[in-house]
Amino acid sequence: MKKENKVTLCIDKSFTVGKVDKRIYGSFIEHLGRAVYEGIYQPGNKFADENGFRKDVIELVKEIDVPIVRYPGGNFVSAFRWEDSVGPVEERPARLEPAWGVVESNRFGLDEFMNWCKKVGSEPMYAINLGTRGIEDAKNVVEYCNIEKGTYYSDLRIKHGVKDPYKIKLWCLGNEMDGPWQIGHMTPEEYGLKAGRAGHLMKMIDPEIECVVCGSSGIGMPKFGEWERVVLENSYDNVDYISLHTYYDNEEDNTPNFLASNVSMDKFIESVVSICDCVKATKRSDKTINLSFDEWNVWYHSKKKDAELEKWTEHPHQLEEDYNLEDALLVGSMMITLLRHADRVKIACLAQLVNVLSPITTTDNGVFKQTIFYPFMQSSRYGRGEVLNTIVKVPTYESKHGDAPYVDSVVISDEENGVLTIFAVNKNLEDDFELTCDLRQFSDYKVEFHSVLTHKDVKAGNTENNPDEVKLSDNTSAAVNDNGVLKTTLPARSWNVIRLKV
Ligand code: AHR
Repeated sequence: MKKENKVTLCIDKSFTVGKVDKRIYGSFIEHLGRAVYEGIYQPGNKFADENGFRKDVIELVKEIDVPIVRYPGGNFVSAFRWEDSVGPVEERPARLEPAWGVVESNRFGLDEFMNWCKKVGSEPMYAINLGTRGIEDAKNVVEYCNIEKGTYYSDLRIKHGVKDPYKIKLWCLGNEMDGPWQIGHMTPEEYGLKAGRAGHLMKMIDPEIECVVCGSSGIGMPKFGEWERVVLENSYDNVDYISLHTYYDNEEDNTPNFLASNVSMDKFIESVVSICDCVKATKRSDKTINLSFDEWNVWYHSKKKDAELEKWTEHPHQLEEDYNLEDALLVGSMMITLLRHADRVKIACLAQLVNVLSPITTTDNGVFKQTIFYPFMQSSRYGRGEVLNTIVKVPTYESKHGDAPYVDSVVISDEENGVLTIFAVNKNLEDDFELTCDLRQFSDYKVEFHSVLTHKDVKAGNTENNPDEVKLSDNTSAAVNDNGVLKTTLPARSWNVIRLKV
């Protein structure tokens, strides 16, 4: 190991960023490609249960432990009629679905999704259509879902066999309404007013709900910044979170640049926080708007194939990414970025969950884990507690996103359960790094495990026939020495979880 290849973490129990809101480990199921049909739902498949839900998928979703799932879109939602997706399945209409150029059968809908959520132990995050529809429809769907009984839509739900209201807490006010590709896209003034009015009416129906207003579809959008400011100025009192979306790619095949992409994600988050607080100040408001990073991932492998798709078919293979190790490393780094902003990022959704831009891929014969499954699953399972405000000494490299650290890291303390967890990504493609962390204040803590995801080839991935090409292994060299210092090696090109316990 080169002597400069060192990363030192300095932690103090009382210096914290904030408590991790478990909803930061959310994900997303859109009516798109094979996410729903052949993904979570495939009646007749040998793994389907009595509802048609894929049991093998349920098992993996439970393994990740996904606290919230955003649904039903995405771009899909902007021309969607929620009423088409409830009631007797045989009476539901098939519709042209213009966002993705397919036919939507509506065989799976709102009621089926809520049932599926219960099975996997997730809460729904339901998006309403503010593209082709208005605030009346927004009101009606809240009434259908959240009112007990005695009104038209609550009684309709009961007629459909669902006695108890779903009590959906979290609602997205449309999707990416700044994007010219979005059905019914708007100016920030138009959208801010419409979203504010929708939130206002929806909260009249159920004051317990929380609303997410659309921020820009990415930091690269021409109106980024102005969009957030104007939207919030027009909707502030009726919304609770603002959304951020980002997808990175390695089209230029430059792995160091690609792995530095989360430097730009850091800037994105910090800019949106500043804008929220600026609007708060100008309104002399006591209310703080927090962030919902409700679409994030790597997306590019599938784009060429998707451009050639025939139109108006049902659930074609669309946005099916074959992820490799470098994608998993960036997903790990993006997760670390989200956690380091745990004071303001309260919700995040890996986009998406099954078959579409996903950690889980199904075939007719079973499921396999994409490389990105591992950092997402391990973050969700082990990243609960208080994020420590860590001082990190680590060499950096130049990238197109600015100077990037060779090692990204975050430390999370769960004092109640006597657990300390470190997530770290070594982005150096050739060299191992030595990680050191003085644990003076955590004197009784010992290494429980150090789990590693790496491979000799950053382009290696998993397939149906070779599902374990990239998988977790144990690094047994991690230890706390007599001076209370944790030392371990982060292999070149690796995602790492170091877990210490009293
Ligand atoms: O996740 C895929 C698509 O990406 C979503 O439908 C849209 O919101 C975003 O542009």
